[in-house]
Amino acid sequence: MDLGLGGKVAIVTGASAGIGFACSRALFQEGAAVVMVARDPDRARQAVDAILSGRSREEAARIITVAGDMNEPQTAKQAVTAALGVNGRIDILINNAGSAKAGSFFEMPEEAFLEAWNLKLLGYIRMVKEAAPHMIKQRDGRIVNIVGGAGRTPTPAFLAGSTANAALLNFTRGISKELAKSNVRINVISPGATNTERAEKLARQNAEAKGITVEAQKAEMNAAIPLGHMVAPSEIAAMALLLVSDHVPSITGTEIVIDGGQQPGV
Ligand SMILES: NC(=O)c1ccc[n+]([C@@H]2O[C@H](COP(=O)([O-])OP(=O)(O)OC[C@H]3O[C@@H](n4cnc5c(N)ncnc54)[C@H](OP(=O)(O)O)[C@@H]3O)[C@@H](O)[C@H]2O)c1
Repeated sequence: MDLGLGGKVAIVTGASAGIGFACSRALFQEGAAVVMVARDPDRARQAVDAILSGRSREEAARIITVAGDMNEPQTAKQAVTAALGVNGRIDILINNAGSAKAGSFFEMPEEAFLEAWNLKLLGYIRMVKEAAPHMIKQRDGRIVNIVGGAGRTPTPAFLAGSTANAALLNFTRGISKELAKSNVRINVISPGATNTERAEKLARQNAEAKGITVEAQKAEMNAAIPLGHMVAPSEIAAMALLLVSDHVPSITGTEIVIDGGQQPGV
C-alpha cells in the first residue's frame, strides 16, 4: 500500500528508542524527512546509524536530530525550526516522549506527578502549540499522540503516568475540533505493554512496588494480555503511518488502542 508519505516532513519526540525509534524508522522508510528529538546525542546517533544502515549517503540528509529535553519549552521551538528548515513545512508530528515513574502511591512524592505532567502532558501540548499553526496555514497536517492504556484503565502503581494520559485523551478530543476546521487531524494511539526499554524499567518498578520479582511481574503482565504477548514497537509505528497517511482522511479526535485485547469493558 502506497502511503503517500514521500517528501513529507515529520517531527518525532522521544525518537531514539522504543516506540519513537520505530515511528522514525518507519516514516524514513516511507520517504519522509524526519526530525528526531531526544536528550542523549550519543543514543540519537546510534539510532540514526541503525536507520541509515545500508542506505546511500544522500539519504542521510532526510534525518535531522535535535538534542533536547521535552521538559523544556525551547526544545519544542527547536524541533519546529529544524523541521521548517527542510522545506518550510511541517506535515506530521508524533508526540511520544514520556517517562513517568511507577511506584506505590503513598511513597510517590508530589514531584513525580509534576514531572510526569510536565514532560508528557505539557510536552505534547507545547509541541501542538508550536507545530499546529504551521499545519493550519498549510491547511494540512497530521498529529499522533502516543498515550497509553492507563489513561482509561488506571492502576494504583502508575497514577502519575495514568493521570497525564487521561488528560491527553481529553486534550486530543478537545483540540481536534478546532484543528479540523483547517484540515489538521489529531489522534491518539494507546499502546498496552510494549516491548521497549521503558517497559523493562516499569516492570522493575512495579515489581518493587508490589514486593514481587521482576520475572513474576512480567509473567503477571503477559498472563493479563488475552493475546498472551506484549506489543511490538513496530505495530505502533504501522498504525501511526496509517493515521498520518491519507488512507483514512476522516479520522480525527479518536483513540486507537493496541494492547493485545487487554482493555476491559466496552
Ligand atoms: N512501552 C510501553 O509499554 C508503553 C505503554 C503505553 C504507553 N507508552 C508510551 O509510549 C511512549 C514511548 O515509550 P517507550 O516505551 O518507547 O520509551 P523508551 O523505550 O524509554 O524510549 C524513550 C525515548 O524518549 C526519549 N526521551 C525520554 N525522556 C525524554 C525527554 N525528557 N525529552 C526528550 N526525549 C526524551 C528517550 O531518549 P533520551 O533518554 O536520550 O532522551 C528515548 O528516545 C511514552 O510516552 C510512553 O508513556 C509506552
